[in-house]
Amino acid sequence: MEDKVKDTIQTGSDKWWKRAVIYQIYPRSFADSNGDGIGDLQGIIAKLDYLEDLGIDAIWLSPVCRSPQDDNGYDISDYQDIDPMFGTLDDMEALIREAGRHHIRIIMDLVLNHSSDEHRWFQEAKKSRENPYHDYYVWRDGVEGEAPNDMRAAFGGSAWEWVPEVGQYYFHQFSVKQPDLNWENPRLRREIYDMINWWIDKGVGGFRLDVIDQIAKEPDKKITNNGPRLHEYLRELSRETFQKADLVTVGEAWGATTELAKLYSNPDNSELSMVFQFEHICLDQIEGKEKWDLAPLPFMKLKEVFARWQTQLCGRGWNSLFWNNHDLPRIVSRWGNDGQYRVESAKMLAILLHGLQGTPYIYQGEEIGMTNVQFGIEDYRDIETLNLYRERLEKGYSREEIMRSVYAKSRDNARTPMQWNDEENAGFTQGTPWLKVNPNYTEIHAAAQVNDGDSVFACYRKLVHLRKEYPVFVDGDFRLLLEDDENIFAYTRTNKDSRLLVICNFYDRTVRFSLEEDISDMELLVTNYRETGSAGTLRPYEARMLYLKK
Ligand code: GLC
Ligand code: CA
Repeated sequence: MEDKVKDTIQTGSDKWWKRAVIYQIYPRSFADSNGDGIGDLQGIIAKLDYLEDLGIDAIWLSPVCRSPQDDNGYDISDYQDIDPMFGTLDDMEALIREAGRHHIRIIMDLVLNHSSDEHRWFQEAKKSRENPYHDYYVWRDGVEGEAPNDMRAAFGGSAWEWVPEVGQYYFHQFSVKQPDLNWENPRLRREIYDMINWWIDKGVGGFRLDVIDQIAKEPDKKITNNGPRLHEYLRELSRETFQKADLVTVGEAWGATTELAKLYSNPDNSELSMVFQFEHICLDQIEGKEKWDLAPLPFMKLKEVFARWQTQLCGRGWNSLFWNNHDLPRIVSRWGNDGQYRVESAKMLAILLHGLQGTPYIYQGEEIGMTNVQFGIEDYRDIETLNLYRERLEKGYSREEIMRSVYAKSRDNARTPMQWNDEENAGFTQGTPWLKVNPNYTEIHAAAQVNDGDSVFACYRKLVHLRKEYPVFVDGDFRLLLEDDENIFAYTRTNKDSRLLVICNFYDRTVRFSLEEDISDMELLVTNYRETGSAGTLRPYEARMLYLKK
């Protein structure tokens, strides 16, 4: 086989998304153009220059389709229309077009595990057992007047809801307003493919697939994720839709192991481009419990998890790289330091992640080092947070204890409005924001950072551009260094003609190190301190990314 061909097969470096950096927008919190307090599509269009300056290749847009907003749009009532809160279908087409002019593709969020209970299909489905749409959802008879089994929904309560009209329960893994779709029904699958192809024809650049590992459920056996038919469905889905265009597809898969990820992201393109896996991000909770049951981050385990995913998927799949999204707390507050070392630690976390193999994702506000918030419970809006608060109060937890969990893990940490400038409401809206702005916006905002070469923003911009310039970011092999060091995360990425070395102090104390290899010839690509440090020590949160052409 010709070398070039072989190379392409091994690294898949022909794929645009292997060199790309993707930026996630949570539309309701990004930019409000009409003063109703909710971010919208025209708001995003107005910020495309900012995003082009950052250098990102694509925007993953959290759901903007028509929805009663029980779970902020992850409950879709019409997959082929835009929610009026965000704009119109014309606005969506304008966004795709305008983003294209800025060399940015639009990735839609497909919520295929469930729809809204207000979707036309469900409205029909609950009329009678004979209705043609009935079987689009997952129904079971009760057992002795009770729900079929004791399965629980992710947002609290039973996973079964009784519908008197049909005398059956429907299954919902999330809220009662998010009935699960029945993927066993081929007519439902066909409707989904037609809908996806309609979006592809509109020119979208790809899709993020919400909780995709949960579509092949078998509730009678209490199987929620990784059901037996999952990969069969995914291959059919991919064949009928994604493979017709040069798209990026990323599945959300909480239950993915490296073995499963190799199936999902097989370089033969039979399923998806990559998955979001959460092994690293679930480390700071008590094992076997919920995310609210806080535990300190086991740093050595974090290194082990990253190293395993990096080596296992190399040449056999593809990683997604992320610290943040709309469901996760802000990384600088979580594993960095949002006090004295906010800027240093935000940059360190960026440098650590962006040197790895995979496609990096930046969640809105991460690029300026936005932090968690601490509101009174009455100011939270997230359904998961509010249900948790109620449930734990009933179970006898103290308010203080619950709020500690909420401050650390509530999804609203990531959902406070984007901090654009130091004007009222951080420049997000002229009206009253749907969720309060983080009071630290007077200090932390984009306007102060875009023209400052020392800002967190400048560091992200640099990292995004480096990935395009140096092929080693895409195809270099990963090797963990200083494996037993309890403070430092260090690794190399090596390809046939160059080497990248990343070394990061994860903590707020100065540490010493010595590497086996001589790094004195290497060029410093990025760091997070202005004054050059000394060779064998790292200052608090100090990070260096070095490069050598062999
Ligand atoms: C995913 C989404 C989350 C949503 C859930 C149900 O985990 O990221 O925001 O609540 O699916 O759709
Ligand atoms: Ca608006």
